[in-house]
Amino acid sequence: GAQQTRTPTGAKTGAPATANGQQGAYLTTAQGARLRDTDHSLKAGPRGPVLLQDHHLREKITHFDHERIPERVVHARGAGAHGVFTAYGTAEAVTRAGFLKKGRETEVFVRFSTVLGSRGSADTVRDTRGFATKFYTDEGTFDLVGNNIPVFFIQDAIKFPDIIHAGKPHPDREIPQAQSAHDTFWDFVSLHTEAQHHTIWNMSDRGIPRSYRTMEGFGVHTFRLVNEAGETVLAKFHWKPKLGVHSLTWEEAQLLGGIDPDFHRRDLYDAIEAGAYPEWELGIQVFPDTPEETFAGIDLLDPTKIVPEELAEVQPIGRLVLNRTPTNFFAETEQVAFHLGHLPPGIDVTNDPLLQGRLFSYVDTQLTRLGGPNFSQIPINRPHAAVNDMLRDGFHQHAVHAGVAPYRPNSLDGGNPFPAGDAEHAFVDVPVTVAQAPKVRANPASFDDHYSQVRLFWLSMSPVEKEHIIRAYTFELGKCYHQAIKERQLRSLANIDPVLCEQVATGLGLPAPQPTVPLADVTPSPALSQVGRDWPSD
Ligand code: HEM
Repeated sequence: GAQQTRTPTGAKTGAPATANGQQGAYLTTAQGARLRDTDHSLKAGPRGPVLLQDHHLREKITHFDHERIPERVVHARGAGAHGVFTAYGTAEAVTRAGFLKKGRETEVFVRFSTVLGSRGSADTVRDTRGFATKFYTDEGTFDLVGNNIPVFFIQDAIKFPDIIHAGKPHPDREIPQAQSAHDTFWDFVSLHTEAQHHTIWNMSDRGIPRSYRTMEGFGVHTFRLVNEAGETVLAKFHWKPKLGVHSLTWEEAQLLGGIDPDFHRRDLYDAIEAGAYPEWELGIQVFPDTPEETFAGIDLLDPTKIVPEELAEVQPIGRLVLNRTPTNFFAETEQVAFHLGHLPPGIDVTNDPLLQGRLFSYVDTQLTRLGGPNFSQIPINRPHAAVNDMLRDGFHQHAVHAGVAPYRPNSLDGGNPFPAGDAEHAFVDVPVTVAQAPKVRANPASFDDHYSQVRLFWLSMSPVEKEHIIRAYTFELGKCYHQAIKERQLRSLANIDPVLCEQVATGLGLPAPQPTVPLADVTPSPALSQVGRDWPSD
């Protein structure tokens, strides 16, 4: 092999080049040619023009010119951390997933984010927060790509481009950055009233978390779990923070946006580096897998609905500890690629139409964002399970695949890699019956109830939380230029609660309209209030 020497820092030189790079004792070009100088371009005399033949100059500037990649089309601003997930074993009865077996430890990478702001935007804006977790399980990677709000704006992924266009800055003025404070956002949510539930969560203190460490996380959709015996249940995933659920006040959020726009990422890194490791418990709500896919009358395929914890307890199944900050923001936090289709055996999808569209969207956007189909070879995205796919070639291919027969079974160099009896760890496509039904562009009728759970949320708030919600609606709607939009949103508030509507209308100097649907008769869910939400196992 190559002769090796050690540099003062202990790095090996003369070793084969690694993707890690920048370990040699001497500064070189990307081709490994040793440099004499990197501060002066090659010129025709000290006062002469720069020579085109200066490869080092061109390589250095060219690479710099291409340093930026597109930011994520949503969730562009984020902060990540590494950690460990330890399973309690309490999910073994309902899922065969190996990483959920008792005592099993799995390495994870978590990326927290805001949704609407650009990569350089402030952390403390009023917005939904992403909570995406990559579990590097030995049965394949599992990505739980959730938010800090348990419901979503829309019920069908076909509307996702529309809600995001309405929430991002206007195409003409590219303002404002204040996340929801503009006409198109309120126009959308008052016309597409299924968004009202998510919106009240945004207007509540959940829209301005104190810290990533004090956020709950939710898988939002209902998933289907399958156990060793092939039995299935429906389930929703919940993350519960050890420190309890806490928010900033609006005034704190505003001040921090100016004083320290990096407040949340700084808090995350500082906590980990001080040894105050952030912790969450993962829990599941479990529902019988009935043909109706409902629980207590709630449609489990509707991503704008929750199942109150009082009706279905969140059962803890494991603990997440974040204990290591990234070495390099770009390599890890920026290049990480999550996908709902990354599932281990024991966890499967449902027909939630929002979930189904997400299964298409993430890999599609990553083909552009990460420059081609080989981004699963980027270190942060590499599975920790052994990979033996039949994928070949493509931009940025790092593997040197051997053999001549990239098809299976074959009789030339691979044989058949599915020997009988080795199916134990293989992915399970649950053989759910697909209904014989005419093709339609329509939702089930149960998706039409847009107000009862919004009212449930409102009635579950403590007085101070209600006060914050009123102030948030009043402030944000007050930013709209169009009175008709404010009036239309007030009509939605009237369908949620007359007190809420009245107070916001007064703040806006507008009359409070009457409800257009009967007010839902709902039982408040104390678990929705942030007051007293602490570490569940204490
Ligand atoms: C990114 C959550 C709905 C498209 C993300 C991220 C999170 C997330 C946490 C950031 C991932 C990261 O940190 O890298 C959710 C949740 C949803 C939802 C909880 C609803 C329950 C949708 C829908 C679509 C969509 C319906 C499209 C139809 C995207 C795209 C990205 C993204 C394109 C950027 C991914 C990338 O560039 O790697 N989402 N999302 N999302 N989401 Fe969603």
